[in-house]
Amino acid sequence: MAGRIPQNFIDEVVARTDIVEIIGTRIALKKAGREWKACCPFHGEKTPSFTVSQTKQFYHCFGCGAHGTALGFLIEHDRMSFVEAVEDLANRAGLEIPREGPSTPSDRDRQESDLFALMTQADQHFRECLRDSDRAKDYLKGRGLSGETAARYHLGYAPPGWDAVLKKFGATEAGRTALSDCGLIIERSGDSDKAVSNGFYDRFRDRVMFPIRDSRGRVVGFGGRVIDQGEPKYLNSPETALFHKGRELYGLYEARQELRQINQLLIVEGYMDVVRLAQAGIHYAVATLGTATTPEHLNRLFRVCSDVVFCFDGDRAGRQAAWRALETSLTHARDGRQLKFLFLPDGHDPDTLVAEEGKAAFEQRLSQAMPLSEYLVTHLAQQIDRDTVDGRAKLAELARPLVQKLPAGVYRELLIDRLASEVRMPSPRLAGLLGLNETQSGNTTTGGYTRPLAPTRSYGRGNLTSQAIARVLQNPGAARYLGPVESLRQGVEDRGLEVLLELVQCLHGEPHLSSAQLVERWRDRPEHERLSELTSMPLPELKEEAIGLELAAIIEKIRAERGPERRWSELIAKAESVGLNEAEKAELLTLQRQARATATQARH
Ligand code: UTP
Ligand code: MN
Repeated sequence: MAGRIPQNFIDEVVARTDIVEIIGTRIALKKAGREWKACCPFHGEKTPSFTVSQTKQFYHCFGCGAHGTALGFLIEHDRMSFVEAVEDLANRAGLEIPREGPSTPSDRDRQESDLFALMTQADQHFRECLRDSDRAKDYLKGRGLSGETAARYHLGYAPPGWDAVLKKFGATEAGRTALSDCGLIIERSGDSDKAVSNGFYDRFRDRVMFPIRDSRGRVVGFGGRVIDQGEPKYLNSPETALFHKGRELYGLYEARQELRQINQLLIVEGYMDVVRLAQAGIHYAVATLGTATTPEHLNRLFRVCSDVVFCFDGDRAGRQAAWRALETSLTHARDGRQLKFLFLPDGHDPDTLVAEEGKAAFEQRLSQAMPLSEYLVTHLAQQIDRDTVDGRAKLAELARPLVQKLPAGVYRELLIDRLASEVRMPSPRLAGLLGLNETQSGNTTTGGYTRPLAPTRSYGRGNLTSQAIARVLQNPGAARYLGPVESLRQGVEDRGLEVLLELVQCLHGEPHLSSAQLVERWRDRPEHERLSELTSMPLPELKEEAIGLELAAIIEKIRAERGPERRWSELIAKAESVGLNEAEKAELLTLQRQARATATQARH
């Protein structure tokens, strides 16, 4: 997208914008030291943890982790598209947007917007078909849904027959290609006897349609439910250029439309659950799309609010799914966030339960949901005999891989205390058994050897590369104290280092770029989110020159570490496959000791 507006124009717009003014016209900001503060507009809170930095031209919430530039704020808060946000800021600054080349949008942009337009038309088509079908309307009525709810969620109906969508939108070959790219039609394989035209047939036939909308309200996919019996009960759009199952959350767009402020989000399993809960007045439920919760889902959820409750059926499958969700959530659990689990009575799902007992009773259950820590502890305690030495050892064994996933911090300490009291053991001793005394930060264990988490995964104080990137982003002026990029690289290959050096190179060319301008340059690249995070990572305040020296030292260390690290990975891989001989074991232990010493130094 950014491709169609020249980068130097975006720089100009960002340079002429004051983020304090942009945010200040929308929420009340109070001056606090060098920064500005407010109650966060992205999650409910009573004490302000939302800060806006005039120097960095960046906002950050310590409560929910929301962060970004002025452009990012307009996108997230005012729900503008990127282009709209640029236009808005450009208008304020009295600038006219130049467009690159005669045909403005890139081919990819144009294709994408064509697909979005087609999805909108399909959505419209299915809704019209619902209006015309008594059978489908009766089905929805039978499930207790009102016309108003159906309209709010754009429910529709794909009539029986093999080619309704195909006929309506697929008259030309280009039309058929687009339909197929959207996942709305399927290419006939071999010579099946299905009545088909042009080698394709409709994917959704005789199903109630649930459009899945992205955060800007654009339809990216559909779920279709059979009306009578039939397999599969729900058919979903395949992965397409627009639709990624592991990212989307059904109902999140509708929730944000309905509620001015979202204080809590409830994660349920089904489309019907979301829709039925909303009809009962519970507008803050969202569903994953027939998949387990992914880290990407959790990131999105915690950007909306800091209180997330998972809801599961009380049966065995539900409990299994709940435990899986717990394992995924651990790396996201930290101070200021609440993660809870709600188990419904056996044989119920939120749909049937809220229909039976109503909003108040359901919310009463919700208020008694089990905190993650309690779920973890009781689940583990059930599996051991806490009155025996063996039992306690087993608890430590079971808890170790879980606790090690938690980011270091107060939350993790509290959880260890809670586990320790459960097995009546002093906390420090349990921490020792959990392998948390010797090395302070998160580690994973492989075949009895310990290695630090992969660099891109660690968070907080972070690994060396992240530390260095954070410094450059927050103090762009410090880059001028570094030598030419090639001399810094010295042939070392490392993805993190590449990003760092690209930032430095960028600043050598244009020394006056601000933090916000740097981050904006990465908007369309996979590292954008991580760079935004690092722009708001707390750092000690130092003079630019001191930061420059520090940076040079960090880069030196990264280079020194890369060599041994490759050898290390080789040895670990071998340990996991064929095993190591004595000499190799000794080598691995030495590498491990050295790395620990370096990690300790880096922390000081
Ligand atoms: P459930 O089987 O629990 O259905 O699937 P449900 O939501 O209670 O549906 P109703 O009440 O019978 O209509 C939960 C979710 O799992 C996914 C869908 O996202 C569904 O909403 N699913 C289920 C599929 O993707 N395919 C299936 O065949 C079944
Ligand atoms: Mn159901």
